[in-house]
Amino acid sequence: MKRRAIVAANWKMNGNFQLINEMASALKETELADNVDIVVCPSFPYLAAFTESFKVEQLSASFHLGSQNVSEHKSGAYTGEVSTDMLRELSVEFIIVGHSERRSIYKETSTQVAHKVKAVLDAGLTPILCIGESEAERVAEQTETVLASQLQPVIDEVGITKFAEVVIAYEPVWAIGTGKTASPEMAQQTHQFIRQFLASENAEIADKVPLLYGGSVNAANCKELFAQTDIDGGLIGGASLKVDEFKIICSAAKGS
Ligand code: PGA
Repeated sequence: MKRRAIVAANWKMNGNFQLINEMASALKETELADNVDIVVCPSFPYLAAFTESFKVEQLSASFHLGSQNVSEHKSGAYTGEVSTDMLRELSVEFIIVGHSERRSIYKETSTQVAHKVKAVLDAGLTPILCIGESEAERVAEQTETVLASQLQPVIDEVGITKFAEVVIAYEPVWAIGTGKTASPEMAQQTHQFIRQFLASENAEIADKVPLLYGGSVNAANCKELFAQTDIDGGLIGGASLKVDEFKIICSAAKGS
């Protein structure tokens, strides 16, 4: 089965107009392997500017805009929230859903995450569904139970066949922003578990879902991580704010 590889930049609450311009012109010169998509996810206020920079730099069809969050509601009295329709009008194609910072700091539950995934799919956009265990959960050998408990509500909400349009990012919470990365073998083992979990519902769909690894991915470790059979790219935080480093990570991705 051929799967596309995806490298997504999660800028979190960082970046400014200068970084947008620098990144857009750097990406224009970045050589990509076949079957690779690059997604840049700046904060909401910068989405429109990025679309503009993409146009100015005439970035190829391999470059896409993403957002870091979205409301599960269609519209209405939800002060401070942003809807899928608004994001689509800004040319957003991918939406990160259920990032561990949303789950831990903003108390998003797996049920709410499932509703968000549904809203994104209903709008014809692609969710990047984040899942991952904490350090304590890994030590207690609960990784698989935790991942299953994060995936199942989404499967129940949207149905397994809809996963043909879903991207999953496995991000062990203990590896995010800490400089500690899961070893390529450990990451592969967990990705294999995720694919098997999906395959127990539908093997054909499981084979199609791009599984990204996230957590302290950088220019030095990306190659080995991306070389693993079930790792189809990465969700990159800190290193995606450094133009030269992000270019190297993008070039290291290979579709299978
Ligand atoms: P990091 O963040 O690459 O800085 O660890 C990844 C993420 O949180 O998506």
